[in-house]
Amino acid sequence: MPTTTAQPLRKPAPTIISSGNGRAALPAGVRILAKGGSALEAVEACARIVEADPKDDTVGLGGLPNVLGVVELDASIVDGTTHTAGSVAALTGFLHPITVARAVMEQLPHVMLVGAGAARFAREIGAEEADLLTPDSRKHWIERLRLAKHTPASIATAHALGPVVLEMVKERGTVNFIAIDKRGNVASAVTTSGWGFKYPGRVGDSPIIGAGHYSDTRYGGAACTGFGELAMRNVTTKTAVDRLARGESAAEVAEEAIADANALVGHGSRLNIVVLAANGEHAAATTKRGVQYAYQSVGMTRAAVRPRAIVRRRSR
Ligand code: GLY
Repeated sequence: MPTTTAQPLRKPAPTIISSGNGRAALPAGVRILAKGGSALEAVEACARIVEADPKDDTVGLGGLPNVLGVVELDASIVDGTTHTAGSVAALTGFLHPITVARAVMEQLPHVMLVGAGAARFAREIGAEEADLLTPDSRKHWIERLRLAKHTPASIATAHALGPVVLEMVKERGTVNFIAIDKRGNVASAVTTSGWGFKYPGRVGDSPIIGAGHYSDTRYGGAACTGFGELAMRNVTTKTAVDRLARGESAAEVAEEAIADANALVGHGSRLNIVVLAANGEHAAATTKRGVQYAYQSVGMTRAAVRPRAIVRRRSR
């Protein structure tokens, strides 16, 4: 009778995946992983790079403001090994919401802080303050206000913002990162300025654990960009990780998540997901052509970009 020798399971190469706009940050994260740093450190470091980049108008500095011209940030981080998480929402005036989110996770008995409380805590930990509305994002806001027949002065005293938001609102993007480190630990981070010209106080999926992203070192992680309302309504990324736990492939999980979003009726139709399985396999899917994702493993000299599978909405 042939004998078989149990093979030790090979750990996957340390890897980070991201939404396409995270590509330039991946080498910094991979350097951390190559030196034996944790997945948590790597995803935070990558998120900070995009937060400080004024050219990305979907995240941090230079992010598009709400309808009143205030840049409100959402961010969160998940440690898939300890199952701890930290999150901030509607935070204004700080350059690195992801670091504030990590401090919520590590220093408070809470998961999420919002608005004034989040800003108070950010000051308490000495987080870097910044005027996030750059001249470019202010110009973009004023142009959109003009199309809605408003000015900064008129919108400041408008009685009803809802109709103006419906006219102006524009989904723009978000950046997300999922990493697996040398020890096989998985962590994820998402940071965003949310929908451009949103209603003040609107919170998207990015700071909602299990909607915008989720990680579990046993199975992998998943993270969304696009219309966060869809991910919140479907608890998309927790559902995705549950599917990984059931043994589905990263590609199957990504495509099913988008099919679930397509089945929803209501505002917003665009959702994108990236999935990194604990075995290192990764995949991504989207509702719309032209959306890519990026990845880099230790040993690769630069980040690579791949198209996402497109899952179209069936006509009703
Ligand atoms: N997915 C980001 C947002 O909806 O704010």
